[in-house]
Amino acid sequence: MNIIVTGGAGYIGSHTIIELIKNGHSVSVIDNLSNSSPVAIKRVESITGCSIPFYKTDIRNRESLESICSKNRFDACIHFAGLKAVGESVARPWEYYENNINGTLVLLDALRKNDCKNFIFSSSATVYGTPESVPITESSPKGTCTNPYGWTKWMIEQILTDMHTADPSWNVVLLRYFNPIGAHPSGLIGENPNGIPNNLMPYITQVAVGKLEKLHVFGNDYDTPDGTGVRDYIHVVDLARGHVNALKAIENNCGVETYNLGTGKGYSVMEIITAFEETNGIKIPYVIDPRRPGDIGTCYSSPSKALAELGWKAEYGIREMCRDSWNWQKNNPDGYV
Ligand code: NAD
Ligand code: WQD
Repeated sequence: MNIIVTGGAGYIGSHTIIELIKNGHSVSVIDNLSNSSPVAIKRVESITGCSIPFYKTDIRNRESLESICSKNRFDACIHFAGLKAVGESVARPWEYYENNINGTLVLLDALRKNDCKNFIFSSSATVYGTPESVPITESSPKGTCTNPYGWTKWMIEQILTDMHTADPSWNVVLLRYFNPIGAHPSGLIGENPNGIPNNLMPYITQVAVGKLEKLHVFGNDYDTPDGTGVRDYIHVVDLARGHVNALKAIENNCGVETYNLGTGKGYSVMEIITAFEETNGIKIPYVIDPRRPGDIGTCYSSPSKALAELGWKAEYGIREMCRDSWNWQKNNPDGYV
């Protein structure tokens, strides 16, 4: 298929392009580089040996989007572009709603005007809010989100569902990611957060590389085996492959379908520290701090629908996730420079 990938210079997008190309798809990328570097695309080109058409533009730029879509005959769009920092979204809700929702609306309009109605959306486990029980299945209720970022995902899912109801020729796959970590085994691409990382694994790798002094563990009084938060970490390459499988659902005219992309297994913060230390032979100093506001104790998926319907399951385990996160960080201590 001929695929337009928005946000393709970012963490998950760059890994996904590699898997798409490996599976015979052609890929073009739109990104405004607000949270990424063009070097990521160059590195993807060197990994794949393919040249990738790249449009440095904003998905809210209607004229530019319509021109790109009318000059290409895209079969499908994979939509990663968006702002994703939970804390920042609480401080700057307007910017999050405007970028993520308005951006998606402009993109959808440009696509439908050019008869491209196959769409894969990067949603998130955050739409489940505080889960009533685990593992979380796709039919678990969409909950009350605890931050504007989460609400943008929740609302875009609804917009896409309504678009399909009004025009059933749309095929929409909503992929709810759990906690992506890891990096391409080449060590050439990986997660490149701006400033101090918000998420656990990039914080750990920056402690390991000496950029940060110690990890702050947010709470050890949750109702979990060791008291620290439990999450469903998934290797970003497995996550990327999930998108290739989702395209098969689109080819089968799936209508609207939702899939969890996780491993189905939860690890606590302490288990991640230990796995990282054992895999890489590096000590991670840490202190226990109070809980982070808005955090939940336990969150992990049931990924069985993706296995049954898409034939997808995560192949990498926690050691590969720790190995590849560190391989990326140690080879690129300052990210893409
Ligand atoms: P990322 O920030 O690395 O990638 C997003 C990309 O979108 C960046 O390259 C950024 O420059 C681009 N972008 C943002 N706004 C844009 C706009 N208006 N026009 C054009 N480009 C724009 O993030 P990521 O971790 O790769 O996440 C990709 C998607 O997956 C996001 O939608 C995110 O919300 C979603 N997601 C991420 C996680 C996670 O933990 N990383 C979990 C669940 C869902
Ligand atoms: C994991 C665990 C923390 C940092 C976030 C978003 C979610 C999704 C994925 C986009 C928790 C603990 C963390 C630290 C710590 N993103 N922690 N010290 O919060 O599960 O999910 O990213 O959709 O929407 O909310 O991921 O990596 O921040 O935290 O102790 O410095 O690590 O309390 O238990 P989270 P995370």
